[in-house]
Amino acid sequence: MTMRIFIAGATGFIGQHLLPALLAEGHEIIAGVRQPQTWQTRFPTIDWLRCDYSKDHDPQIWLPRLTNIDVIINAVGIITETSKQNFTDLHVKAPIALFTAANQLGIKKILQISALGADAAATSQYHVTKRTADEALVALSPNAVILQPSIIVGRGGGSTTLFAAMATLPWIPSLSSAKIQPILINDVVAIIVKLIHNWPTGSKRLELVGMEAMTLSQLLKLFRNWLNLKPTNSIKIPLPLLKVIAKGNDWLKMGSFNSDTLGMLLRGNCANPAPMLSTTKITPSSIRSGLQTFPATTADRWYARLLFLQPLLRITIGLLWLFTGIVSAFLYPVVESYKLLAATGVTGLFAPIMLYSAAILDSILGIATLIGYKIRLVVGLQLLVMITYTVIITWFLPELWLHPFGAISKNIPLLVATLIMLVLEEQ
Ligand SMILES: NC(=O)c1ccc[n+]([C@@H]2O[C@H](COP(=O)([O-])OP(=O)(O)OC[C@H]3O[C@@H](n4cnc5c(N)ncnc54)[C@H](OP(=O)(O)O)[C@@H]3O)[C@@H](O)[C@H]2O)c1
Repeated sequence: MTMRIFIAGATGFIGQHLLPALLAEGHEIIAGVRQPQTWQTRFPTIDWLRCDYSKDHDPQIWLPRLTNIDVIINAVGIITETSKQNFTDLHVKAPIALFTAANQLGIKKILQISALGADAAATSQYHVTKRTADEALVALSPNAVILQPSIIVGRGGGSTTLFAAMATLPWIPSLSSAKIQPILINDVVAIIVKLIHNWPTGSKRLELVGMEAMTLSQLLKLFRNWLNLKPTNSIKIPLPLLKVIAKGNDWLKMGSFNSDTLGMLLRGNCANPAPMLSTTKITPSSIRSGLQTFPATTADRWYARLLFLQPLLRITIGLLWLFTGIVSAFLYPVVESYKLLAATGVTGLFAPIMLYSAAILDSILGIATLIGYKIRLVVGLQLLVMITYTVIITWFLPELWLHPFGAISKNIPLLVATLIMLVLEEQ
């Protein structure tokens, strides 16, 4: 029997794997996303509706979106908060508004993608907020299904991307002896598709786990093997160091490693698969064999290797511009700077104006690069400034091309590195 299914989070890792499977079954899909126009052309057979969990907290907003819906799937979530997205809005307020509207319309089949560990022992805000929504759903809807997956492995997954990158490091980092029980995305999708057809009676919480518990470094070794890289040794990262890095990143907010996610890692992520097996009759594949179902390509190896180099490239290019601005304004002898400017025809009052304007521009471009502000515009300006400086120097001071430290010739690889930074920053 085909159904009208509303999916929130259809553009995410789970959502994007789920969509083709549901379409193949002939279901009618209504997808709630933040930017429907960009997806409508890609999947024209799906009805894309605008919804934003950071503000849609009133059930009234949800009612018209759920007309004649048979099944609701909530696959929206974040692993870390940002300046625009917080756990309370995304994991609690919006889902509860959605569940309340569904309840008012009498929609019985609501499937919430929660997370393994969203239980009474949870301490991380990620898990605590997931659990709040799970509890609210159980209270509202007697037939709700709550799936609590462990780490899900598959192409495009946030954790898969991170683990693949960690697996390319010269040594496999060993962060914790706690075990995790990853499950493949194909198995998660198969379980959801099966549950939609064979909806369990009474509300159900199912922990979705793979059949094998392993440490993170054991999983990373499987990823290294998947990437077709030679095996390497593990290196134990001391816990105090991890805590300091995580604490620092609570403030810096770069990537998803922070005190909350470190706490989740140290807690481990395992469960008994028996209830999942008896309810779904699906036995998850092993991660090793599952990884071979989507063999790593050169693109996978590139992406994995570039993941940690991407912020490094942006930070070093940003620091270079900032440093150049500071050196020009304060450290390089002003007399020498004026001599160089004079050689290009800039003298008198124009010399300090030109010197300090260029220093300010370089510093602004450096700071904007460091904080990742309007990177396209900033890269455009950097290229323009570099090309302009290079042309002027070539014309008026060609001898600088022969400087033994490559004062000007270094601009060429820097131009290319800046273009690579633009490509890497545009996700
Ligand atoms: N992947 C795992 O290993 C794993 C394991 C356990 C539990 N889970 C849970 O499963 C759910 C889905 O995970 P995932 O891996 O698919 O995550 P994901 O790839 O990060 O996708 C998250 C989805 O949420 C949407 N979203 C983010 N902010 C939104 C907002 N303000 N309004 C509306 N939609 C918004 C995203 O839409 P945009 O495209 O607009 O950003 C995207 O579709 C999450 O709740 C996650 O916690 C995942």
